[in-house]
Amino acid sequence: MGIRECCSAFLGGLPDPALPLMPSMALGMIFAALILVIFYKKENKVPLKTAVLEILRKVFYLFPTPDHSESQSCRNSSCVRCSKYKELEQQIAEKWRALDTKTQESISLRLRNAVQTVVRRLVPSSEKLGKDRTRTSEREKSLRSVFQKPTIFPMDLAANPYWNEFDVYGMELRLLKLNFSIILKEFESVFEALKGGDNWGWKLNDIPRGHWCIFPFIDQGVVSESNCKRCPNTSTMIGSLPSVMKDCVFGNACFSVLYPDSHIEPHYGPTNLRLRCHLGLKIPSDCWLEVNGTQHNWKSEETVVFDDSFEHSATFSEQSSAAQASPRAVLIIDFWHPDITKDEKKILLDLLSP
Ligand SMILES: *[C@@H]1O[C@H](CO)[C@@H](O)[C@H](O)[C@H]1NC(C)=O
Ligand SMILES: *[C@@H]1O[C@H](CO)[C@@H](O)[C@H](O)[C@H]1NC(C)=O
Ligand SMILES: *[C@@H]1O[C@H](CO)[C@@H](O)[C@H](O)[C@H]1NC(C)=O
Ligand SMILES: *[C@@H]1O[C@H](CO)[C@@H](O)[C@H](O)[C@H]1NC(C)=O
Repeated sequence: MGIRECCSAFLGGLPDPALPLMPSMALGMIFAALILVIFYKKENKVPLKTAVLEILRKVFYLFPTPDHSESQSCRNSSCVRCSKYKELEQQIAEKWRALDTKTQESISLRLRNAVQTVVRRLVPSSEKLGKDRTRTSEREKSLRSVFQKPTIFPMDLAANPYWNEFDVYGMELRLLKLNFSIILKEFESVFEALKGGDNWGWKLNDIPRGHWCIFPFIDQGVVSESNCKRCPNTSTMIGSLPSVMKDCVFGNACFSVLYPDSHIEPHYGPTNLRLRCHLGLKIPSDCWLEVNGTQHNWKSEETVVFDDSFEHSATFSEQSSAAQASPRAVLIIDFWHPDITKDEKKILLDLLSP
C-alpha cells in the first residue's frame, strides 16, 4: 500500500461508523505514541531507543516515586538555595546573549547544547518551534546516562555513578589523605564549639528526618572567609587543589555532619559539571551513601568520588539517642568534571559566576 492509500485509509477510517470503536481507538493511541516518541527524539536529540526508554521512565516515575530534584526535596519556601537556581537560569541566558557571536561559535557543541537546554526552558513553548535546525546535522552521540537528572545544567559528559579516584584526581586526593589529621583536628575544634552551643558558621539543612548540618568553606561558589579563618590549614589545602570548583555557583566545600537516625532522601544534584568527593572524618557503623542504587560505606581517612546528578541519598540508621552515638562527619569537596576543557571552563566560569 502506498503512502497516499495508507493515509486516506487511516484518515477515512476514523469517522467511519462501520469500523469498530476499539480498533480505531487503539490505532489512534499507537499513532499518538509514535508522534510523541518522534517529537521527544527530535526535541532532546537522543537515539530512538533512548527516547522510548526515557518516556517510559518518565511515565512510570510519575507514580511510584516523585522526582526528587534538589529543589523539590526542599520544603522551605523561602530557601535561598532554591530561589537562587531560578535566577541562575536567567543569568545563564543573559550572559550567553552578552557573548559575541564569534565566541559563541568557537565554543564546543556540547556546551552550546547545554546552554540551549537552559535557554529554551525559559522560552514559552509556542515560540520554540523551528529553531536550531542546524544542530541536527552536527548531532553527537550522547555520553550521558538516562539515569542522570541534572536538574539545572546538563552537559554531555562521561557518566559514572562512582568514579575511581585514581583515574581522576589521584594526586589531589592523596594530598588530602596525607593531611587527614590536620583536617580532623580543625574539624574537631569547630565541632566542639557547635556541641557547646556555638553554631556560628554552621548551617542547618532541611531534611525530613533527623539532623544534618554543614560548615561551609565554599558555599555555592562563595568563599566563607570567616569559616576559612577558623580552619586555616583545611581551607588552604582546599584552595590549593587545582580541580576544585571555585568561583562557580555549583561549587561547594564544607564539613558535613549527619546525626544518628537521619536520612537524606534520594535526590538529584543540579548539574553533572561537577563530581563530588567525600573524605571520611568520623565514620560510625550503620551509615552509608547510595548512588544510583549502589551503596557505599564511608571509611575514615578514605575518599569516595561520585556524580551527584545520579539519584543519591545518605542514611545513618543508628537508633540510639544522639547523645550517646557520635555523628558521621565528612569533608565534601566539589571538583570540575575531568573531561571539561580549559576553554569550556572559561565560559562556564562566566555563565555560572556566583
Ligand atoms: C528556610 O530558609 C531560610 C533562608 O535560607 C532560612 O533563613 C530559614 O531558617 C529556613 N527555614 C527552615 C525551617 O529551615
Ligand atoms: C599537607 O601535607 C603535605 C605533605 O605532608 C604538606 O607538605 C603540606 O604543607 C600540608 N598542607 C597543609 C595546608 O597543611
Ligand atoms: C595550621 O595553620 C596555622 C595558621 O596558618 C599554622 O600556624 C599551624 O602551624 C598549622 N598547623 C599545622 C598542624 O600545620
Ligand atoms: C544505574 O542504575 C540502573 C538500575 O537502577 C542501572 O540499570 C544502570 O546501569 C545504572 N547506571 C549506571 C551508569 O551505572
